[in-house]
Parts: sequence; C-alpha cells; structure tokens
Amino acid sequence: MCGIVGAVAQRDVADILVEGLRRLEYRGYDSAGIAIVNSEGALTRVRRLGKVQALEEALNTQFVAGGTGIAHTRWATHGEPSEINAHPHVSCETIAVVHNGIIENYRVIRDALIQKGYLFESATDTEVIAHLIHDLLKADISLREAVQLASQQLEGAYGMAIMDKRQPDRIVVARSGSPLVIGYGLGENFVASDQLALLPVTRRFAFLEEGDIAEITRHRVQVFDREGQPVERAISESNASHDSGDKGPYKHFMAKEIYEQPMALQRTMEGRIQSGHVLDDVFGTGSADLLAHVEHIQIVACGTSYNAGMVSRYWFEALADLSCNVEIASEFRYRKSFVPRNSLLVTLSQSGETADTLAALRLAKEMGYMSSLTICNVEGSSLVRESDMAYMMKAGPEIGVASTKAFTVQLTALMMLVVAIGRHRGLSDEKQQQIISGLLALPAKITQTLMLDKEIEQLAEDFSDKQHSLFLGRGSQYPIALEGALKMKEISYIHAEAYAAGELKHGPLALIDAEMPIIVVAPNNELLEKLKSNVEEVRARGGLLYVFADKDANFKSDDTMKVMDLPHVDELLAPIVYTVPTQLLAYHVALIRGTDVDQPRNLAKSVTVE
Ligand code: M6R
Repeated sequence: MCGIVGAVAQRDVADILVEGLRRLEYRGYDSAGIAIVNSEGALTRVRRLGKVQALEEALNTQFVAGGTGIAHTRWATHGEPSEINAHPHVSCETIAVVHNGIIENYRVIRDALIQKGYLFESATDTEVIAHLIHDLLKADISLREAVQLASQQLEGAYGMAIMDKRQPDRIVVARSGSPLVIGYGLGENFVASDQLALLPVTRRFAFLEEGDIAEITRHRVQVFDREGQPVERAISESNASHDSGDKGPYKHFMAKEIYEQPMALQRTMEGRIQSGHVLDDVFGTGSADLLAHVEHIQIVACGTSYNAGMVSRYWFEALADLSCNVEIASEFRYRKSFVPRNSLLVTLSQSGETADTLAALRLAKEMGYMSSLTICNVEGSSLVRESDMAYMMKAGPEIGVASTKAFTVQLTALMMLVVAIGRHRGLSDEKQQQIISGLLALPAKITQTLMLDKEIEQLAEDFSDKQHSLFLGRGSQYPIALEGALKMKEISYIHAEAYAAGELKHGPLALIDAEMPIIVVAPNNELLEKLKSNVEEVRARGGLLYVFADKDANFKSDDTMKVMDLPHVDELLAPIVYTVPTQLLAYHVALIRGTDVDQPRNLAKSVTVE
C-alpha cells in the first residue's frame, strides 16, 4: 500500500519520480507528492489530493529542478486523504520523509516531540518520523545514523526514504515490514517500493532485507543491517518488460490482464510440465522429495488468493487424497490452530507482500509445519524470500487492483501442485496425464471464452441500475461464485454475495425478487442436476437468472433466464474457465456505471498493512 520512489542523479529527477509514481499508482491513489533538493540545498515540495495526474498538472505550472528527490502515492491509514496529509512530510523545512506502512507507537513519539516544541501539521503517523529524525540530527551524527536511531524507536511497519537538504547528495532508506528495492544506474541510483517504478531507468536491482538501512548517493549505495553492520545485498538483472506498466491497446489494465490470461497460463506451465507429468523440483530445489512426505496442506491467503485456495481444497482432497484446510490469513494469524503431522503451509499471494499472509507465514514457522511453500507472482517479494520453497507464477505484473490473471494462474499452479503431490498418493499415471492435457488445453479454452465478451457486455446493461446481486455455484464452482461476487462488488460497487447453491433455501432465498440478479456458474458436472433444482427454486420466486453454462448442460434462455454457453471443458478444470465470464461481467458493469475500474475507491493493490 502506498508507493515510494526516490532518485539521486546529476540530471533533474522530477520526471523520473512522477513516471515512477504513475507506475505505482495502483498501490494507492488518495494523494501524491514529491520533494526535491537541488545542489544548493533548496528543498521544494509539491503535493496534491487525488491521483498522480493532479500532481503532474501542478508540476506543469511549477517547475521543480534538482537531482535528489523522493515521491509518494498514498493510501490513507492515519488521517483522511487531503493535501495536508499527503507525503512527503517535512520537519523544519529541512528533513523530508515518505513512508509506507504504519507506525503503531506514533502517538507516544508525537507527544514527546510536541514537548520538545515540534509543531505537527498533519494527522498522519508518518510526520513523527520527520520530526524525530530532525531532533536526532541535533547531535553530531550522520543522516544514516539518525535513521538508525529513529528506527530503534519506531514500532510497526515501514519502508521509508528520507532526505536532509543540508546533505543534498543523498537519500537514506530503511525497511522493516514494507518492501524497498534499490535500482542501480550509471552515475545515478534509485529506490522504490516496487521495481516496476524504476524499469524505465534501470534493470539492476537489489532487494533490501528486513531491518536494512541504505545510504544512496549518485556513485554509491551502502547497505547496513539492523545492527548497523555493512552488508552486501545481491544485485540481479530484471527481465521484466519495460512496457509492463502500460495498458497497450486496452482502456484499462483490468481488461488487458483479463485478455492476457491465455498467455499467462501458458507461461506458468512452460518448462514445468513434460510428457504428461509435472517435472521434479518445480516447486523449489528438493521439493520433489519433500512433497512425497506431505500428509496435510494448510493454505493461507487473503481476498482473491484465498478464493483460489478454496478451489484447490476440492482438488487436494479428491485427487491427492490429502486433507486440506484453507484459511483467511487475518484469522489464521490470531487463532491457536492444530498442526497435523507432516503439514505443509502454502501461502498464495499475487504481490508477495500482503501483511496478514506474511505474518501467518512467520507464525507458522514457530508452529511446527514441516515446510512452507509460496505461490507468488513477484520475484524477490517478502513471501518468496521468507518461504522454504517458492513457485513463481510468471503471470506478469498485475496492475489493476482487481485481481484477474493472478487468480487463474494461481489455480493452474495449484493443480500442478495437486499432481506433484498426488503422484505419491495414488493418483494414477493416466489421471495425471488427463489433468495435464486438460491444463495444456486451458489457454485455448480461455481464448474461446473471451469471445463471449460482446455478449457479456450486453448482459451487463441489465445490471447498471441494480443495487444487489447474488452469485451461485456448487462444489469447486462455489469459490468461483465467491470470486465473481468479489469482483462485482470491488469494481462496480454493486453489493454482491455468493452462496453455495444448496444453501439458498436456508435463508438467502428470502432476498429473491426481480431487483436481485442471480448469476450462476454451471459447468456440466455431477452436481448439474442438483444445481438445476436450485435454479428452479429461484425461478419459482420471480428471480432473474444469468447462467454461464456448459453448452451441453441444457439450460434454455427465456424471460426469466439468460443463458450464455461456454465451451466444454474438463470438469476438474472448469473453475478456471468459468472465472473468465464473471470477470468480464464485473468489468462491463463497472464500465457502464462509470466507476474507476483499475483503481476502485478505498482500495489498493498491495495490502501491506494489517
Ligand atoms: O497480493 P495478494 O494476492 O496477497 O492480495 C490479496 C488480496 O488483497 C487481493 O487478492 C484482493 O482481494 C484483490 N484486490 C481482489 O481482486
């Protein structure tokens, strides 16, 4: 949540910082700001309420020159979205700070600083950092030492970048609970909360570790660990596409990412499947041996990633004969839970930085799990670095706040994990091959399903004036209903709920009337007839139905039911394909309602606070 960019260069850095913010805007978009110091030590700060665009417009009329700068795009935690609460925060017109995360003990620090005469202008937790560092610098110490001392007083999570106009040639950054990456250029260096921000200026990155503090000048980056000892952090070359932050021909990132799914699925399987088998060790070196001994799976995740975990529970239990529990990370981390013998903890996360999921992983390490595996989309992210094993999803950057391709790729990876474990637990060669050929056929099935786009666009018209909606599914399609409802509420702001269709008559049937559209996901599986009965229960009560169905499922459109035929797909893998029309539906409904599709209100892409 929130985005940080910083640069130390000989050239003016304002444009680099603003472009970085534009690329990070998906992380928060309540307000944006920039602070630049020039070589004479003049500090200029510009902040605006709203999106990066507003900041850009301000900078068009107010030229800000200088080679050292920090910038921020905010997702408000403490203090409403406003210009006064926007970062950078400044102390005594000397120290400027941008910060991601939450300082939990800020009140105590603020009271102490007020006693010392500091005046606070914002309602944020971040402002204490600026004044604290200013205060510490009254002793004869360097900026880096002051940041180190300040860090010892701060409780909570932070990724932060600090400038002192009296030392205009440097930025000091610190990481504890919120990621930061250093970007290495030629005679210029950078920092950001996500490497995506820096792709236009460098490909060489080093990820800071927890507790690290780094001093960045044009020619040198020095990293110190929590104890203040100099340390080396490996520099790696990124092969992420420079354009990955662009929408291409699409109107929104979400549309681009929905359409990228066939390619994304292909990439996640490439080089990992051969001759009808999942290759050894694709989940990490030595994983094949370890997976042979797994007796229980505990999946922990949030939001869309949790829904992916829910689907896989059906697969682990039915195909790999393995008990599987799935839990929301924010619940798991605060619950005393039982760890069966030889349990594998699996975290699912697009970003790899979700605070609750990360906390759950850290907790699990003390709980006696035999090992931990993360299925994640971001190289070098905290979950990847802290898990014993990692499966990189290779979905490509997902910028739209609503997760789309990450979900279908997670499902693909999870099915591969089911096969990799299942082969040690009685999943026959024949069944493995059937699943693998189904997986390999998915990109084509999804491409076919995407052709329904125009029809779904028309269907979406019916939803434009609705306030509520209900998503129904059975079996492994129930989590697809959950995911469909999450997409609908997240970007169209229509209240959407999901139910296992068999549960309708236990309460929610009371809601049914002509004002409540009901979306049903109906592949041709063993639960089809049961689902049809549930559909009839709704029809009998005047409900309006929208059914995404297998073309052989024999649903017929009429006055109360609109049916959209999907290609026939192996029932095991149907959840992956049936996700796509629900994504398209949410997208088109949001378009018609004129909401901000890629950056829906109140949300941010990477939830790095609790
Ligand atoms: O990065 P993660 O997969 O850990 O994120 C988890 C959720 O915050 C995320 O899936 C969220 O629910 C999406 N915005 C939903 O579209």
